[in-house]
Amino acid sequence: MHLNAYSHLVLAHRFGVRLAERGRGGVILVGSPGAEHGIPWLAAHAAAKAYVNTLGRGLHAEFTARGLSLLLLAPGATATELAARRGLPTTGAMPVSDCVSRALRGLESGRAVVIPGLAARVLARMPVRLTQRMLGRVMASAAQRGDAEARRSAS
Ligand SMILES: NC(=O)c1ccc[n+]([C@@H]2O[C@H](COP(=O)([O-])OP(=O)(O)OC[C@H]3O[C@@H](n4cnc5c(N)ncnc54)[C@H](OP(=O)(O)O)[C@@H]3O)[C@@H](O)[C@H]2O)c1
Repeated sequence: MHLNAYSHLVLAHRFGVRLAERGRGGVILVGSPGAEHGIPWLAAHAAAKAYVNTLGRGLHAEFTARGLSLLLLAPGATATELAARRGLPTTGAMPVSDCVSRALRGLESGRAVVIPGLAARVLARMPVRLTQRMLGRVMASAAQRGDAEARRSAS
C-alpha cells in the first residue's frame, strides 16, 4: 500500500508544490483499468490501484486550476519485466514506447485520463462481474504457476 498507493499522494504533493512555484509542469500517475471492480487473486494490488485511479481523476482538476497538468495513465497489458515476473500472458501486450508516447501526448494536451490499448478501454467499461470473471481466471492461473515455480525453486 505504501508503494502502490500512498507514494502517489506524497509524490504528487511534493512535485505539485514545486511545479506550482515554477508555474508550469505536469505529473503522470500510473493506475490500472478496471481496478475499481476488484480483481480476484490480485485484490490488494487492485485496491491500491483503485486508490490511484480516483486520486488522479480528482487531482487533475486541482492541478489544472493552478495551470499545471496531471494525467492518470491506466495502461492495459504492457511488455515490461512485470508481466514476465508475475507469469502473466504477454501475447498482445503493447510495447513500452507506445504506452509512453500516448501518455506524453495526453499530458501535453491536458487530458485527465489516458487508457492506452483497446483491450484496456473495453475492460474499463465492462460490468464488474465480467471483469472479475475474466481477470480472476488470468490471475488465478498466474498465481498457480507462481506457486509451482516457488515449490520447484525450494526443492
Ligand atoms: N506492465 C503492465 O502491463 C502494467 C499494466 C497496468 C499498470 N501497470 C503499472 O505500471 C507501473 C510500472 O510497472 P512496470 O510494468 O513498468 O513494472 P516493472 O517493469 O516491474 O518496473 C517497476 C519499477 O518500479 C520500481 N520499484 C519497485 N519497487 C520500488 C520501491 N519500493 N521504491 C521505488 N521504486 C520501486 C522498480 O525499480 P528497480 O528497477 O530499481 O527495481 C522499477 O523501475 C506499476 O505501477 C504497474 O502496476 C503496469
